[in-house]
Amino acid sequence: MDLNVLLKTLSLDEKIGQLMMVPPHLFIQSSDTELMGPLKALGISKADIFKTGSILGIGSAQEMIDVQTIYLESSRHKIPLIFMADIIHGYETIFPVPLGLASSFNEDLLEMVAQISAVEASTAGIQVTFAPMVDLVRDPRWGRVVESFGEDSYLAKRFAAAQVRGYQGDGVDKPENIAACVKHFAAYGLSEAGKDYNTVDLSRLNLFQNYLSGFKGAIDAGAKLVMTSFNIFEGMPATINKYLLQEVLRGSLNYKGTIISDYASLKETITHGVKSNEYEAAVAGVHAGLNIEMATALYIKNLKDAVENGDIIEEQIDALVMDVLKLKKECGLFDNPYKGASIEKEKQLVHADVHLDKALSVAQESIVLLKNRDLLPINNQTKIALIGRYANNPNMNGPWSWHGSKHLNNTLSDVFKKDMNLIYVNDGSNLDYEKLKAADVILIASGENEKDSGEAHSKANIKLPYNQEGFIKAVRDRTTQPIGLLLFNGRPLDLSNIVDDVDAIVECFFPGSMGAQAISNIILGKVNPSAKLTMSFPRSVGQIPVYYNHLPTGRPFHPHGEYTSFYLDLDHTPLFPFGYGLSYCSFKYDNFRCSNNRLKMNETLIVSVDVTNRSNRIGKEVIQLYVHDHFAEVSRPLKQLIDFKKVSFNPYETKTIEFIVTKDNLQYYDGNLNLRVDSGTFSLMVGPNSSDLQKLEFEFFKEV
Ligand code: BGC
Repeated sequence: MDLNVLLKTLSLDEKIGQLMMVPPHLFIQSSDTELMGPLKALGISKADIFKTGSILGIGSAQEMIDVQTIYLESSRHKIPLIFMADIIHGYETIFPVPLGLASSFNEDLLEMVAQISAVEASTAGIQVTFAPMVDLVRDPRWGRVVESFGEDSYLAKRFAAAQVRGYQGDGVDKPENIAACVKHFAAYGLSEAGKDYNTVDLSRLNLFQNYLSGFKGAIDAGAKLVMTSFNIFEGMPATINKYLLQEVLRGSLNYKGTIISDYASLKETITHGVKSNEYEAAVAGVHAGLNIEMATALYIKNLKDAVENGDIIEEQIDALVMDVLKLKKECGLFDNPYKGASIEKEKQLVHADVHLDKALSVAQESIVLLKNRDLLPINNQTKIALIGRYANNPNMNGPWSWHGSKHLNNTLSDVFKKDMNLIYVNDGSNLDYEKLKAADVILIASGENEKDSGEAHSKANIKLPYNQEGFIKAVRDRTTQPIGLLLFNGRPLDLSNIVDDVDAIVECFFPGSMGAQAISNIILGKVNPSAKLTMSFPRSVGQIPVYYNHLPTGRPFHPHGEYTSFYLDLDHTPLFPFGYGLSYCSFKYDNFRCSNNRLKMNETLIVSVDVTNRSNRIGKEVIQLYVHDHFAEVSRPLKQLIDFKKVSFNPYETKTIEFIVTKDNLQYYDGNLNLRVDSGTFSLMVGPNSSDLQKLEFEFFKEV
């Protein structure tokens, strides 16, 4: 298919139609319906819908086939629709939420999750997923932290790349692969006060240094689409922000694919108060280079006039349409408009046992052991009382799992009954303390509801909700048995009030379809926990934002200094730091060393550490390497993750873990947004988490 020839055959209206995305039900119900409901709200005609270019959300192969067929029968040019949806942590088989997934510190798992999601979603005729979400997050009040990989820009880059590889595989033309749309460009995670859709304000330096990294990872891995964010940058909504979309995205990041708005974000430039009407907003979208407008119809209603009025020229529209046509071509839609959709395969593959097995192993590696006062693992003879709101609750899929059928999930009590000596189950109402007292161990399954996090689900209070702190304290006061707390939540919680009341804390996030079995396996020690937090847990909302890679201050905290950086009423460290997570093994780090204490521009430094498993179990450890640049053109973080290795150890085994350090690990953006590296002293730090580190120094010399 020669796209230039095709483009020439399109009328201006038809070209503009390619830039619009609509919901599927417009077609399925369209044949004879009046202009009501969504069509009326969109303000477009029935003829217009047969000119639109893409579909938001689709529920099954049958639906996709119907919509595409109806569309192709009535559209003049017969350019297939492209189908996009939010496949965030699984389609029907649901994996842990991204914040949990990231805690696995296992890129192979992140890639595999994306790949299985693509296999399942593609059978329903979905060709594009709105993932990965790479917004850097430092404020757990923001509900969307659940969708993110956490607070670290280096992890965002690696994990974004892994997921793009997983979704797109060996080419988006293949039926089982789908195109990745990385989002939300840019800096959406900085919504002030953690309130969704709120103002964002950051310097260009901070943008380059921290917030672009995840996008770079995804784009360099070949992500086919980028979604703009709802927020402003330097006073201008991202969706029409020429600096962001042209200079940064197309320029600095060298992005060549399609740019799509977020849901109605083009129209929302009016409520942001920078455009006074839909016409102006549509024109601004074109000038910024926005290819696809999601969920509103400003382009279709205004761009023809804008061309006639000379506010834009048709060549601009041509360029935007060409990107969309290229995407459709790359996705193989001109060869097969029903690409991927298969009613048969949908039945066989979706929620298949092989996928559920994978969901189990991923969940097991995403659960973080936060505390363990010699309670876990327990043996299967131990008499267990399982209480709390998640004791009998199958809803462990978490936000953005719209397709996964929660009702098919096992509950904790289903699985514990089978695996353990479970003597009492209660969801928290009318607790029978006599029965509790008969147990050896009390497990309290607590947390947030699935809907306590996610889009538009921000919170000012991040303690355990629904009086669960009171519940835990009452159980603590009236019983003497050890208590293990199993936590389900979409954000770091403030656990400071209850951390001392329990003997163990197992952070499960929302673990997905196989969550209950994964938790049972961890509790019984069939699986050794190996995940680490990718977002700090604060001691109080008053500490937010609290993150590990902060800059030095002129007056760093000093225990005996009055005018230093600290709180009068609270420790300034987080309750659980970035990179933290326990194992049933204990690991010892020795002999941290460097092949040389000098490094030149084109040389490599080999950094090694001996890690010993001091226990009689097999276990995995995430060995983390951080750097600090002592003097630079701009202030640099006190520590910045530059590499990690997740390594498996046999009982009592010692392994030498090696990292390679080059100038690339020392680079940073200066005030002019140029990447640079300076001669001088650097510290390297290694350890099991961001606050428990051993240190050494070396000198870097810029000359070759
Ligand atoms: C969200 C996006 C999502 C889109 C489409 C928006 O409200 O911000 O993350 O991809 O809806 O569902």
